[in-house]
Amino acid sequence: MGIFLSGGGSNMRALVADMTGDHPARPALVFSNNADAGGIAWAKGQGIATAVVDHRPFGNDRPAFEAAINAVLAPHALDIICLAGFMRVLTKGFVSGWQGRMINIHPSLLPKYRGLNTHTRALAAGDCEAGCTVHEVTAELDEGPLLGQARVPVEAGDTPADLAARVLVQEHILYPMVLRRFAAGDKTPIYLR
Ligand code: GAR
Repeated sequence: MGIFLSGGGSNMRALVADMTGDHPARPALVFSNNADAGGIAWAKGQGIATAVVDHRPFGNDRPAFEAAINAVLAPHALDIICLAGFMRVLTKGFVSGWQGRMINIHPSLLPKYRGLNTHTRALAAGDCEAGCTVHEVTAELDEGPLLGQARVPVEAGDTPADLAARVLVQEHILYPMVLRRFAAGDKTPIYLR
């Protein structure tokens, strides 16, 4: 399977750490649009194949960017793509090619707070709980069949960073649990308190 990341890559590391023993998947490729993503160096150190396609030379031509991505993915014969903090919006064309085989983690209790700044928005709304969602990726941003959700309390005085850190702990538990099931063909949602 392939893991698409940008940023720190802590979810990618949690997925890779779980893919041992009787896990039905193995990490085949870690991909980023950012050569400096911390997870790329980490994956290399683990002996996992890595690939980078910088989006910047493509400007607004997303289909060309995505054609370049598919070209680097092709030799790896990936069965599943896990998005892990991948912050580029993918086109309908790309997504439809991977439909049913691409999953994402999003730091909110979808359908609440699609898009960015989820923790700031949850605090501004006065929510008493927050969380994260793993879902199949479809053409609409942060939509698609739900595969798992984990909830955390919002505590008095929380900053967005406090909440993000509390949610991230749950992301690292939920995403590997969901991937184990999904890779075995089981799409039954997992709900963690
Ligand atoms: C995670 O909180 C993930 O849910 C979020 O980015 C962070 C990545 O952390 N994803 C999104 O916001 C997707 N739109 P990581 O790189 O350490 O896994």
